[in-house]
Amino acid sequence: MTEPNDLAAFWMPFTDNRGFKANPRMFVAAEGMHYTAAAGHEVLDATGGLWCVNAGHGRREIVEAIRRTAGEMDFAPTFQLGHPLAFEAASRLALLMPEGLDRIFFVNSGSESVDTALKIALAYQKARGQGGRTRLIGRERGYHGVGFGGISVGGIVGNRRQFGTLLAGVDHLRHTHDLAKNAYSRGQPLHGADLADDLERLVTLHGAETIAAVIVEPVAGSTGVLIPPQGYLQRLRDICDRHDILLIFDEVITAFGRVGCATASERFGVTPDLICMAKGLTNAAVPMGAVAVRRSVHDVVVDNAAPGIELFHGYTYSGHPLASAAAIATLGIYQAEGLFNKAIELEDYWADAVHSLQGAAHVIDCRNIGLIGGIELEPRPGAPTKRAMEVFHRAFDQGLLIRVTGDIIALSPPLILEKSHIDEIFGKLAAILATIE
Ligand SMILES: Cc1ncc(COP(=O)(O)O)c(C=O)c1O
Repeated sequence: MTEPNDLAAFWMPFTDNRGFKANPRMFVAAEGMHYTAAAGHEVLDATGGLWCVNAGHGRREIVEAIRRTAGEMDFAPTFQLGHPLAFEAASRLALLMPEGLDRIFFVNSGSESVDTALKIALAYQKARGQGGRTRLIGRERGYHGVGFGGISVGGIVGNRRQFGTLLAGVDHLRHTHDLAKNAYSRGQPLHGADLADDLERLVTLHGAETIAAVIVEPVAGSTGVLIPPQGYLQRLRDICDRHDILLIFDEVITAFGRVGCATASERFGVTPDLICMAKGLTNAAVPMGAVAVRRSVHDVVVDNAAPGIELFHGYTYSGHPLASAAAIATLGIYQAEGLFNKAIELEDYWADAVHSLQGAAHVIDCRNIGLIGGIELEPRPGAPTKRAMEVFHRAFDQGLLIRVTGDIIALSPPLILEKSHIDEIFGKLAAILATIE
């Protein structure tokens, strides 16, 4: 038996386990914009945990809702039965979605939301008599979680190469990242709308009648903050319409105010057929995800089915009472505090701060949208990712939580932050970059 505090048993996700366990950095408490580290110091949260704590840490309303619900009813199944909180959470969430996307399927994570959306897309094509449309299209550098569906349509090699052949019949659009043309863009880059034409290329290659759906992140986060070029998403929408292909937006990180609206779809004025969500849905206090589905898509699957179960999919914890209660409380906070506007109100100040790092040591690009920032570093020769990881560790030790992916620093602070926090984030980063090798 290991001792309770032994570090060996917990095989940590997406972690250099040996590195961490040799030099653990732990959190023990969180409140507002800050964590408290086990070593005792405060750590300013510039990443909203993992892009999920949009309303700030330790929100009493959410904690209370969870506590109350746990005391009343710990669990109730949603297979052939129900409980009121799940229906209320779905109705409230539907009100925030773009017009027409008002059918909600609950899941427990972003990964599950992606696999659910892909399965709904396939079920829809079959239900409308287009069962030959089985092909799924993702994008290079895309991150759609870690389920087999998600890694198949995803485009990050590290997340794929350990896991065999993945789903058959998947293809990928080219990614939109182009430093030669778009470095140091403020907001949406100018160049690259034409990259959406890649979908036409895949239609020509495979035949539209074989393609069920295309999935992209409106703003890609985990791959290092890739912001859609102006006109790109609309062009993708137009091509999908032309060929009767479903468009799925993976908004696991962009929904709930990150780019200044309830969804990135609203911000960019492009409405997909399905939206994947998680993270900010409950402010991360209880795991929960969701897929918002266009009503017409839902109706084809449900109305065309033989009497009985229409979609053979779901999770024991779909619409879990504690998660539903947390979601209702969280959506209430977003509305009461106008948090979806916060990223717009602060966008210029944030953008100035992000771009103040242009010219700092090792920086080869700065990019921003809403309350998202990406700072790309020149990889250390022969040792890619090491420089950014050193920045990450130093930042933690100096009281700042950032996220790094490859050699890119990704920032996504809670939406409650003040200008003084922005000053602190970029002051610390500038100082660290100046001292790192
Ligand atoms: C765009 C996107 N999709 C899916 C996921 C997976 O979410 P989860 O880790 O909750 O499964 C993430 C997580 O960061 C994400 O950024």
